[in-house]
Amino acid sequence: MAAVRLLLVIFINLLSFYSHAEGNDDVFRCVKISEQLAFKHPKLKHHQLQTTPNIPMFPGNEASKSHSIVSPGLCPLGQVPIHVNTPSSQLIDKNTGVKYTAAVSTVPGKKTYRGGAAFYGVYNPPVTLMQSSRASIWVQNGPESQLNSIEAGWAVHPDLYGDNHTRLTAYWTEDDFQTTGCYNLLCPGFVQLDSSVFLRKSFPLDSLPTMRSIAIIQVTDKVTGNWWLVAGVDLILPLGYWPKELFDYLSLGADVVKHGGSTITYLEGLDRPPMGSGRYPDDWKVPGFTWIQYVNNSYQLVQAERGEMTVILDSVCYDLQQYTTVGAVPRENIRYGGPGGTHEKCKQLPPPKPRDL
Ligand SMILES: *[C@@H]1O[C@H](CO)[C@@H](O)[C@H](O)[C@H]1NC(C)=O
Ligand SMILES: *[C@@H]1O[C@H](CO)[C@@H](O)[C@H](O)[C@H]1NC(C)=O
Repeated sequence: MAAVRLLLVIFINLLSFYSHAEGNDDVFRCVKISEQLAFKHPKLKHHQLQTTPNIPMFPGNEASKSHSIVSPGLCPLGQVPIHVNTPSSQLIDKNTGVKYTAAVSTVPGKKTYRGGAAFYGVYNPPVTLMQSSRASIWVQNGPESQLNSIEAGWAVHPDLYGDNHTRLTAYWTEDDFQTTGCYNLLCPGFVQLDSSVFLRKSFPLDSLPTMRSIAIIQVTDKVTGNWWLVAGVDLILPLGYWPKELFDYLSLGADVVKHGGSTITYLEGLDRPPMGSGRYPDDWKVPGFTWIQYVNNSYQLVQAERGEMTVILDSVCYDLQQYTTVGAVPRENIRYGGPGGTHEKCKQLPPPKPRDL
């Protein structure tokens, strides 16, 4: 049953890829797994490639728990698709711009987590050049100046992608964005392993909005410690991972796991971008993140509990609501976002001042 489901998921993903390939915005080349950029990282010289992640899965997906990535995909066996487009702007690889966040977070320094998971709404908010808008899960650990952070989800980011499609997007840093870190595969780090879904891949615009799953989870074997990105329709596709060697602190687990939205404005005086669905949670009750889960220090997926979540909301321009759905087990969810731009809640604010453009 699970195998059929997996094939179906892969098939659906293939379909969505090909339908989009016509628009020619998902051009990739096939690269041998061992010849990926990741292995050029000095810390990964002796890295042992991991192809069979042991990650905690959503209930019902147990059969894929130890899932070897040999699925038929877009490339011949042993190769993976790597997006070929290069960014159209220099600024996107630095931590510049003014960032706003509407998210729920675990309390820093309290507990050790091995990941976070959820289903989330994938939207296509109207974003202009010098703006970006995204929805992510973050896992973080370490002192402020050396923060280890991995972030993954969807983003609309015209300066990064050259278009305004909603794309699978990740970002990582090992020193609070000072000298390390980048989006997707723009620097050595992420090891792509799935052969059909890859970073930078666009979500088909004609099917948005939609619900997808997203998780960043440390493998349970306690030895390799790599941080895997899991996505797809039903949290079933481990796409690849950030090797443990990249991170002094995250290698030991995360103390902060966040779920939510963020926006960036890269130009002084430019409007704040729309976030999430582009509507306030009061106006339009669409889901932001549903069934928010954490992976606890025993590598078990557990329901988030209201008591361990704090709200991060750093601008009145955006809003966030938590809500609990009751069933056999209560689930935690959030709605977040806002229209940005010239909405009265936003225009009263002083213009954003990017730090160092
Ligand atoms: C995206 O870009 C295209 C072409 O530049 C434009 O026609 C369209 O309106 C844009 N969509 C959004 C949501 O900004
Ligand atoms: C993790 O969750 C499982 C299942 O609820 C529980 O048995 C275990 O004690 C938890 N571990 C920690 C470290 O909280």
